Amino acid sequence: MARLTAGIATSHIPLLGVAIDQGKTEEDYFKPIFAGYEWTKDWIARPENRPDVVILVYNDHASAFDMNLIPTFAIGCADSFQPADEGWGPRPVPVVENDADFAWHIAQSCILDEFDMTIINKMDVDHGLTVPLSVMFGQPEAWPVKVVPVAVNVVTYPVPSGNRCWKLGEAIARAVARYPEDLNVQIWGTGGMSHQLQGPRAGLINREWDTRFLDDLTADPERLRHIEHIEYLRETGSEGIEMVMWLIMRGALQGRVRELHRHYHVPGSNTAVGHIVLENDQ
Ligand code: DHB
Ligand code: FE
Repeated sequence: MARLTAGIATSHIPLLGVAIDQGKTEEDYFKPIFAGYEWTKDWIARPENRPDVVILVYNDHASAFDMNLIPTFAIGCADSFQPADEGWGPRPVPVVENDADFAWHIAQSCILDEFDMTIINKMDVDHGLTVPLSVMFGQPEAWPVKVVPVAVNVVTYPVPSGNRCWKLGEAIARAVARYPEDLNVQIWGTGGMSHQLQGPRAGLINREWDTRFLDDLTADPERLRHIEHIEYLRETGSEGIEMVMWLIMRGALQGRVRELHRHYHVPGSNTAVGHIVLENDQ
């Protein structure tokens, strides 16, 4: 049977991808950012922790989807996904290989569970998906895990509520538990933390709010389920809403969780870098 063994969340700041691609991770600006991922890189490289498949929850930033097509929840079911050209040419990273049978199974299980996912068979994947892989695995020839992309609309209003995201996580966990193959599966939530990229409040950081959010992933996840959109907007800036994707990860873990590692650093680009590793406490 497939097992959901851990949840990881991380910001997916494009600048971190640039730093890795251009060999700048040891520079003064980047060093403390990447230092916070060293623990996880070591942990995930151990055979007992290495997932066969990562269900990678992210948002597309007008690369694959635009105002013509706005799926709230989409799942990539193709065999592979190319890195998107976000204006500077595609990132020099490996093609993302899916476990398509598993992805179709998750789609079927979620849809029959009344979560009507959009099935995507052709999609380029942008920094939202490739930067988390880069910070965790560096620059390999091929990504060492299969990836099931789950894309969430957090760009164009109306975006899903945190509680809806949590419930999708629960549905994904049921799908994993129903899969007969023996797979070690992780779920990753990406985006955040507090950030606003444009307008008069550009550069807004709310360390206190972010810290409470990180704390409550273990201490009081019920509170997080019910944070309203307006609070994300007011307290964490216009792009802070990306954190609802962390709640898909947290909802999938269910029950009590143990925090294994945490990293928080300001600034990365003009945003807060946040990262946490959780496992089920049972
Ligand atoms: C930036 C873009 C993002 O999508 C994000 O989540 C954080 C930062 C940026 O352009 O700096
Ligand atoms: Fe983003």
